[in-house]
Amino acid sequence: KRRIAVLTSGGDSPGMNGSVRAVVRMAIHNGCDAFCVYEGYDGLVQGGDMIKHVGWEDVRGFLSEGGTLIGSARCMAFMERPGRLKAAKNMIVKGIDALVVCGGDGSLTGADKFRAEWPGLLSELVDKKELTAEQIKPFEHLNIVGLVGSIDNDLSMTDATIGCYSSLARICEAVDSVDTTATSHQRAFVIEVMGRHCGWLALMAGVSTGADFIFIPESPPGADWQDEMCKIVKKHRSMGKRKTIVIIAEGAHDQQLNKITPSQVKDLLTKKAGLDTRVTTLGHVQRGGTPAAYDRMLATLQGVEAVKAVLDATPETPSPVICMIENKIVRRPLLEAVAQTKKVAEAIEAKDFDKAMDLRDAE
Ligand code: F6P
Repeated sequence: KRRIAVLTSGGDSPGMNGSVRAVVRMAIHNGCDAFCVYEGYDGLVQGGDMIKHVGWEDVRGFLSEGGTLIGSARCMAFMERPGRLKAAKNMIVKGIDALVVCGGDGSLTGADKFRAEWPGLLSELVDKKELTAEQIKPFEHLNIVGLVGSIDNDLSMTDATIGCYSSLARICEAVDSVDTTATSHQRAFVIEVMGRHCGWLALMAGVSTGADFIFIPESPPGADWQDEMCKIVKKHRSMGKRKTIVIIAEGAHDQQLNKITPSQVKDLLTKKAGLDTRVTTLGHVQRGGTPAAYDRMLATLQGVEAVKAVLDATPETPSPVICMIENKIVRRPLLEAVAQTKKVAEAIEAKDFDKAMDLRDAE
């Protein structure tokens, strides 16, 4: 009988609760014991009541709730080996032999590292007499399965991360609201959206709202971008448009990697294009609130697949991450997906923007 724990880690995203619900219920459906770890890896390191054996009823109502009801954290202790040693002990005390982690690439890398270290951690616990050889015997292998929860849609090898479509919908609603006031006053708005290394939200919001200009980290504008932007904006105005919307990803920069800020863009639109301009930073509004239908479905299907992956796992199977590729739920090697994701950031760092865009296209 497998004992499967689920936790949410890193920045929350709408749909995470749906994945917790699906993992818990699919585990129970398959005769396994299900556990929720509270407050992300912090809960794993602290143990005790932070790791709860849960039943079918405990996740009732989770599907439509935003954020993560079991809490999340960006945990420092788990980054260090002593923290992971405590976590390993706490899991064995609770009899847990599989862990499903819903989080971003950092959280998933941490999980796989934990799995790689697992045998060493167990021997250390025995050496230090914290556990006996008898106690660790049934826990020779730890299964880790990743689910990607992030509004940024920034993991390679999956078409959509849990939360990205809810966030996009929220951004579009916000831009639509700004549109009405912008049109009334014939104003320009510079709207900053999230996405530190990934421009998916800004790009798709631009497409979905008909923005005049967007800035994303993977494809910075050319050296003459200031003139180009003002020219485009003025052209749209000359065609009768009464508003101007420029969407900027928080990680936007120019080709020299100098940050392009909303206030800089505002100044340009004011001074060079002669427009009455305001800045709106959407901030955490775009990460909060009810999950869209797509994220509820994605979270549920992926949570179910995560439990199947635990049940299918052999000691040789590399840790999988559950992905959505061309509308199909599939498993991919977690470390490969993370490595591929890192390549995009590296290409941006190296100012090789063609490569960054090619890698994104290949996703
Ligand atoms: O990774 C998700 C994300 O929402 C990013 O888009 C954003 O840069 C970051 O988290 C904000 O993090 P925090 O909530 O810790 O400020």
